[in-house]
Amino acid sequence: MSNKAWGGRFQQQPEEWVDAFNASIDFDQTLLDEDIQGSIAHATMLAHQNIISEEEKNAIVKGLKDIQADFYNHNIEFKHALEDIHLNIEHELIQRIGDPGGKLHTGRSRNDQVATDLHLYVKKQVIEIQALIRSFQESILTLAKSHVETIMPGYTHLQRAQPISFAHHIMTYFWMLERDYTRFADSLKRIDISPLGAAALSGTTHPIDRHKTQELLGFEYIYENSLDAVSDRDYIIETLHNISLTMTHLSRFAEEIIFWSTDEAKFITLSDAFSTGSSIMPQKKNPDMAELIRGKVGRTTGHLMSMLVTLKGLPLAYNKDLQEDKEGLFDSVRTIKGSLRIFEGMLNTLTVNTNRLNETVHQDFSNATELADYLVDKNVPFRTAHEIVGKIVFECIQQGIYLLDVPFEHYQELNDKIEEDVYDYLKPENCLNRRKSYGSTGQDAVRHQLNVAENILKQ
Ligand code: ARG
Repeated sequence: MSNKAWGGRFQQQPEEWVDAFNASIDFDQTLLDEDIQGSIAHATMLAHQNIISEEEKNAIVKGLKDIQADFYNHNIEFKHALEDIHLNIEHELIQRIGDPGGKLHTGRSRNDQVATDLHLYVKKQVIEIQALIRSFQESILTLAKSHVETIMPGYTHLQRAQPISFAHHIMTYFWMLERDYTRFADSLKRIDISPLGAAALSGTTHPIDRHKTQELLGFEYIYENSLDAVSDRDYIIETLHNISLTMTHLSRFAEEIIFWSTDEAKFITLSDAFSTGSSIMPQKKNPDMAELIRGKVGRTTGHLMSMLVTLKGLPLAYNKDLQEDKEGLFDSVRTIKGSLRIFEGMLNTLTVNTNRLNETVHQDFSNATELADYLVDKNVPFRTAHEIVGKIVFECIQQGIYLLDVPFEHYQELNDKIEEDVYDYLKPENCLNRRKSYGSTGQDAVRHQLNVAENILKQ
């Protein structure tokens, strides 16, 4: 006699090591709450449709809730031989309540059951990820608000380019995260769909009401096609993508944090509470949290690739390959939630070395474009101005000085259109002040940007 829920047509049992390979219970117990929620909705609908009695439904619901409580009290032992969370729970239920437990699976299959669990899980997780993104955006905005006037070198090619506001720089990440937030929000349209009642692949002959379970589970939409309902994993791929892209954004920001905290830059100082030391070099304070976030994008991107390949060429409808959809998803969800929390903590506790930042822009040529623009204002064609300033920069490099150190007589020799006011013009804060174009780094434009951001968060 087989120990399997599907044992009837079998003469032989798989050995334990075969069961272990087949089983998903070691990881799909993550879906216990969703599985019970889905089963309660299904049983409620079965009773509503007079497929099972009210008493049977009550016994099922009570049994499932007891199992849930016992799980959290560590009083349930799952078995590989029972494969997955669905069969383990069903087996436990039948052990506890007998025949009514055996009626729960009427008009349903594990194929629509697992799909239901996953839809519920992904929906819940996406909403939680969105909340963490919002919270991180708040922290970025708060830090930006106190650094509108903090000037730092803006880079291209990791070479000093033009002075910018620190607030402007970090707000770039606010906007990346805003796109991530709305991308997750949009994806809910394709996540918030009920597959329950699609059964194995073709629907069922029992008089079930799919709209009833849809309503009970709070799904906004319902699958129109039973085969699609059980074989769709697009929403998992989409979520893995959205997670990967957000992680990619975090990794870019992490890289900047790492660079800014080097002895070479000293733009910021990380809190000790978000740093680690070296077991050999006593002086070391390492940005491990930022490095881990930068590194973890490897696994989230890997999980996305893995799922894309798993789905490729997969025929309809359910195939066991689909069991491979879980571990990567769970890991990606854990990874992004952890990364968002850690990054926010790191950002909230770091010190921006304002003096050092302001000092750096006095020791570079990031105001060279300004000098060219100054000449353009005096009617010199931009190309000529570019050439003149290039020569001045070259001379300065040879003498080890910067544009603000060039004596006035020398400026006059180089071009008589350069007047005394050039020194004021070239001051980094004035370089910013003059930038009035929409979305630019000028103080007024940045203040406007912060207002727009604040309004988004208020909505
Ligand atoms: N553990 C399975 C999975 O995660 C549940 C569905 C099994 N369905 C089946 N027909 N074997 O995909």
